[in-house]
Amino acid sequence: MGRENKLLSLLLREIEQSPSHTISCEHYMTQALYHPQWGYYQRDRLKVGKEGDFYTSPVVSPIFARSLGKKLLEMSRDFDQWQVVELGAGDGRLCAHLWEVWEQIGGGPQRYYLLETSKYHRCLQSDRLQPLLTSDRCQWIDQLSDVCRKEPVIVISNEFFDALPVHRVRRGERGWELGVVTKSTDGQGLAEDFCSPPTYMEKQIGAYFDLLGTTLEKGQIVEVAFSAQKWWKQITDHLTQAIVVTIDYGGEMEEVYHSGRLEGSLRCFRNHRVHRRWLTCPGESDITYDVNFTALHKWAEQLGWRRVSYESQGSFLVGAGILEEIAVTAEYQDPFCAAARERRAVMQLILPEAMGEVFKVMIHAKGC
Ligand SMILES: C[S@@+](CC[C@H](N)C(=O)[O-])C[C@H]1O[C@@H](n2cnc3c(N)ncnc32)[C@H](O)[C@@H]1O
Repeated sequence: MGRENKLLSLLLREIEQSPSHTISCEHYMTQALYHPQWGYYQRDRLKVGKEGDFYTSPVVSPIFARSLGKKLLEMSRDFDQWQVVELGAGDGRLCAHLWEVWEQIGGGPQRYYLLETSKYHRCLQSDRLQPLLTSDRCQWIDQLSDVCRKEPVIVISNEFFDALPVHRVRRGERGWELGVVTKSTDGQGLAEDFCSPPTYMEKQIGAYFDLLGTTLEKGQIVEVAFSAQKWWKQITDHLTQAIVVTIDYGGEMEEVYHSGRLEGSLRCFRNHRVHRRWLTCPGESDITYDVNFTALHKWAEQLGWRRVSYESQGSFLVGAGILEEIAVTAEYQDPFCAAARERRAVMQLILPEAMGEVFKVMIHAKGC
C-alpha cells in the first residue's frame, strides 16, 4: 500500500465539511504549497537546484546576481541611502551573491530585508546568510509593515509571483465559472469542476476582465492571480518611495491568455519533470503557472505606479552587462573549466530557447 498523503486526507475532510462540497483552487494551492506541516514549500526537501525539482536563475549562476546587483546600484544612484526587500527569498542565494558583488565593487543598500514564509527555506537562509544576518545589513521580516519607511526601497523578486495561489476561471455558456476542487468519483482523490462563482467573485472576475479589456474563448480556462493584486496593494500601502523589480516567467496577456491555450497553464514540477496532474499528491510537487504581466501592470498602474520597463530576461541581463562578466577566452581546452562553465550558465540565462525569453523583467516606480 502506498504512503498515506495526510494533506490529501485533510483536503477530503475539508471538502466533505464544506456546504458546497468543494474548495476553491486558490485554497487548494494554498494548502498544497504552504500548509504549515505538509505544504510543498514547508517540507524538508531540496526544491531548487540539481537535487531538487527545478532551477531558478540565482541557482544557475552567481553571474545572475552580479548583473542584477550592478543594475540595482545604477537604479539607486539618486538615493543617499536605500534598502532592499526580497520577496520569496528561497534558499538565500540571490541575497548572498548580491552582497558579494556590492562588497567587491563598493556600495549597496543600508539594509536588506528577507520575506519568506517557508520555514525550510528560512533554515537554508540562516545557514547561508549567517554573517549577514548577525550584522545589521540583513534581517528577516514577517510583513512589509516591518520595513523602515524613512529610506527608499527597492523590492526585488525572482519567481515569487508564480508561486502564489491562483484561481482558475472559465468562460462558460452563461458567464464566468470558477474552478473548484471536489472529490473524484471514487471518493478517494480530487477532481476539478467549474461552477457559478458567488456574487462578489463574479463582480471581481468581471472587473478583472474589464481592466484587461479582454474576454476569453467559450470554454477557455485561465489562471487569475488575485493574490498578486493583494501584494501590490500591500507594497503600495507600506512603501512610499520605491522601485519594484519583478522577475518571473510568463508574458503579456495576449501570450498567456492566448485563445489557443484552452486549458490554462497550471502545472507541477517534481525532479525536473513537468506534469499537469496538479490534484494528485498535494504537497509533493511544486505547482506553478505563467504570470500575466499585463494584469500585474494594470493593478500596479491603478495604484499609482509608473512602469519603467518591461523586457525579456535576456535583454535585461545583456543591458545590465552580463556579457562583460564572462572571461573572453576564444577557445576553452577544457569544457569543464570554470570559464567554460560560466559561459554556458550565461547562455542559459539569456538565450531565448533557454531562460532568456520565457522569463520577463518588469520595473515599476513610485515616489521616485
Ligand atoms: C519558486 S520559489 C523562488 C525562490 C527564489 N526566489 C529563487 O529564485 O530561487 C518561491 C518562493 O517564494 C516563497 N513565498 C511564497 N509565498 C510567499 C509569501 N506570501 N511570503 C513570503 N514568501 C513567499 C516560497 O516559500 C518560495 O521560497
